[in-house]
Amino acid sequence: MKEDIILSVKHLVTSFDSEAGKIYAVDDVSFDVKKGKTLGIVGESGCGKSVTALSVMRLLPKPAGAIEKGRVLLDGLDLVQLKAEQLYHIRGSRISMIFQEPMTALNPVHKIGKQIGEVFRLHYSHMTRRMILDESIAFLRKVGIPDPEQRIREYPHQISGGMRQRVMIAMALAGKPDVLIADEPTTALDVTIQAQILDLIKSLQRETGMAVIFITHDLGVIAEVCDDVVVMYAGKVAEVAPVAELFYNPKHPYTRGLLSSIPRLEYPGKTKLNVITGMVPSLYEIPEGCRFQNRCPKAMAVCRTRPPGTTWVDKDHVVSCYLYQ
Ligand SMILES: Nc1ncnc2c1ncn2[C@@H]1O[C@H](COP(=O)(O)OP(=O)(O)OP(=O)(O)O)[C@@H](O)[C@H]1O
Ligand SMILES: [Mg+2]
Repeated sequence: MKEDIILSVKHLVTSFDSEAGKIYAVDDVSFDVKKGKTLGIVGESGCGKSVTALSVMRLLPKPAGAIEKGRVLLDGLDLVQLKAEQLYHIRGSRISMIFQEPMTALNPVHKIGKQIGEVFRLHYSHMTRRMILDESIAFLRKVGIPDPEQRIREYPHQISGGMRQRVMIAMALAGKPDVLIADEPTTALDVTIQAQILDLIKSLQRETGMAVIFITHDLGVIAEVCDDVVVMYAGKVAEVAPVAELFYNPKHPYTRGLLSSIPRLEYPGKTKLNVITGMVPSLYEIPEGCRFQNRCPKAMAVCRTRPPGTTWVDKDHVVSCYLYQ
């Protein structure tokens, strides 16, 4: 593995079993996350962004969800092969996740102080109760929670959505992970708080050198915070490129469609990715060939035969499209 890569996802395939049949929500997805850098994952709703993140964390809903193939190498260690108890020590301390909906990560029946304290108890066995209390308060202050001495005595429902998001970020960071996965950490928040959370993640990243996987619908946010970008479409990777390359030299017709849906690049944060006509195909009715064919302005006969392979169009720039093969 290249030295500057902290996390490498290789040919990941994740399925869900249901009465209606088996679907492949993530189908042969590969990407690398560099140490200390931010990788964005972008794509419309249902493209498999969260399932990718949950697969990396080994937190897929059981028994329906399963990793069928592939590797998730964290500094060379394959998380796919680890047993539950081994994962318990890795999650939180080496890799953490901020969830799309904070209440999924917070326990409604425990006070905030107890929940953040739990992270320290789990990962730092030497810490005394006093140290844990002090550190919990310090972390809540660091993520911008006013009056943390009071907040630790409250329950999640007693604080606002923005504050819950901050508590979850504090918990995700308390174990000083090498990799933080942030799954749309700002979608539920108003614009001012969104900006604060983004700044917070960036400044904590500078301080600790952690890598971040940032999942979002919002290309404005991608432009602001990411170094590299993975564009996903219907469970597959359409394109991977450094952020400037993606914005100035997009190759995949899907990426181009997403970019043209941004009305003004100078005003990021207010864009919706819904102007490409048509819809992401249902995973129960995946077409033969390229999954984007029905919406693609450049579709050719070959696109309907079998899925395109990947092509390197430049160093670090990969595209999965017949136009480049
Ligand atoms: N528990 C589950 N059981 C069955 N199918 C699921 C489950 N979770 C996700 N899926 C399916 O997997 C696909 C990818 O979902 P995913 O949540 O990863 O999308 P996403 O890109 O994160 O979308 P969004 O932007 O809306 O968060 C979807 O078709 C979804 O219906
Ligand atoms: Mg999601």
